[in-house]
Amino acid sequence: MTSTFCWDQGILRRMRKAAKRKSPETTLAPSNVPPRVAIVIMAAGKGTRLKSQMPKVLHEAGGKPLLAHVIAAATRVVPPSDIFAIIGHEAEKVRSAVAGTGINFVLQSEQRGTGHALMVAQGALSPYNYVVVLSGDAPQITPQTIARLLNFHLDEQAGMTLLSADFAEPTGYGRVVRTNPSGAEVKEIVEEKSASAAQKRIKEINSGFYVFAVPELFANIGRLSTSNPHTEYYLTDMAAVLRKAGERVVVYKTENSSEVLGANTRGELSQIDEQMRIRKCRQLMADGVTIFYPATCVIDNDVEIAADTVIEPFVQILGKTRIAEGCRIRSYSVIRDSQIGANVLVRNGCILEDARVASNAVLGPYSHLRPGSDIGEGAHVGNFVETKKIKLGKGSKASHLTYLGDAEIGAGVNIGAGTITCNYDGVNKHTTTIEDGAFIGSDSTLVAPVRVGKGAYVGAASCITRDVPVDALAIGRAQQVIKEGWAKEKRASRKPK
Ligand code: UD1
Ligand code: CA
Repeated sequence: MTSTFCWDQGILRRMRKAAKRKSPETTLAPSNVPPRVAIVIMAAGKGTRLKSQMPKVLHEAGGKPLLAHVIAAATRVVPPSDIFAIIGHEAEKVRSAVAGTGINFVLQSEQRGTGHALMVAQGALSPYNYVVVLSGDAPQITPQTIARLLNFHLDEQAGMTLLSADFAEPTGYGRVVRTNPSGAEVKEIVEEKSASAAQKRIKEINSGFYVFAVPELFANIGRLSTSNPHTEYYLTDMAAVLRKAGERVVVYKTENSSEVLGANTRGELSQIDEQMRIRKCRQLMADGVTIFYPATCVIDNDVEIAADTVIEPFVQILGKTRIAEGCRIRSYSVIRDSQIGANVLVRNGCILEDARVASNAVLGPYSHLRPGSDIGEGAHVGNFVETKKIKLGKGSKASHLTYLGDAEIGAGVNIGAGTITCNYDGVNKHTTTIEDGAFIGSDSTLVAPVRVGKGAYVGAASCITRDVPVDALAIGRAQQVIKEGWAKEKRASRKPK
């Protein structure tokens, strides 16, 4: 998907309106230039409540780190060069996990609260007119809601706009105290620990997402104090601070409350993960994929599946997997980072990782395709067959109990049951080449590097250490010996005395 989400419809109109209200020395952009909007993602916290060695924002939901979801939503609103992640706890780990996205990072080496996180970003943000603040631990935010929040802020000509939602169970969240129930104006945000009994009954929670006018934010951020139960600088206190300074502070409520759920505990993390996966299944079904019993299927966010593919219960499809149309994925298969062509049948219990499977192929039951497996059109890989870094040509078959590693296998090849490519000599890996139409008898070992020529036969139970010429027969096994009557004599000699 491309980053095409458009937030700035009507932006110039809004800007002109906003500029009119401002004094002449306003730092807002001239009215014919779109305003500069940055997005800040707060991601420096430790995540104490997860009781983890790993930083909170790297915990996964929907198959990827929480922070990666937030970045994906943000980059559909502004380009990565205008996105700043505030990192601190295990900063290098967080940075390297999402470095590929092209966003910027600001280091908050000591985490002294969400307000402090914005203080350290002042230098990076000063060239901007507006900043949208997102939370790295709330991964279900959508680009549409970010855009609506931003547009609402511009329409309302506010100094601060916060995103809220109604929660039946608001405990733990900051509560929004409006100046009057019917208006959008906010008096203050109270954190759970400081809330009165009456305030605790408020169901409208602060999502932790905001838009600020940048000059107003930094003209007043110095007024935050740490006089609260955590002795931290709370960004939430900016509501009361800006209001006192005569700025407009308003709230925009989203109807979709799941969008703002934060993953502070393992329980919340699993709830978010479940919601994401059900949403993914619903979206795939809407696009024509049949999923039986979706609650049992684990499908990562970035997976693509075409119409008329059928997913049976208890299937996992992970990472960047792409599955074309008309496939059937039977129960208990786990497919990661793989590409599957049209009309492929994956029978029960297959494990695929970083594999490619061309159309009309049949896998399983219980095939294990390890990285670099490239299965040709109409090929068969059967039960208890393990493959790694191989090419299996069109229509070739390896149906039973076989290991194929580091092999180039042509078209129309038959690999008998129990065949093993001996690819490793203890130091290096070597390639086995099997040309088109060759027949490998059951229980053969092919000691690489070795080549079996086109159309050649390998007798069952052979140990092949030398190349087999085109159309030849190779037999590499001990001669059979017959000893007439041997068994009968043996039995006789064993009779009790
Ligand atoms: C915050 C809000 C609360 C709101 C809730 C919504 C404050 C004081 N409270 O609480 O009103 O209902 O979000 O989810 O803001 N972080 C930093 N640097 C810091 C501290 C935190 O970057 O010094 C980051 C965290 O990594 C996290 C985000 O800011 O991604 C929010 O911090 P967190 O501690 O989770 O705040 P909440 O207690 O959830
Ligand atoms: Ca949180």
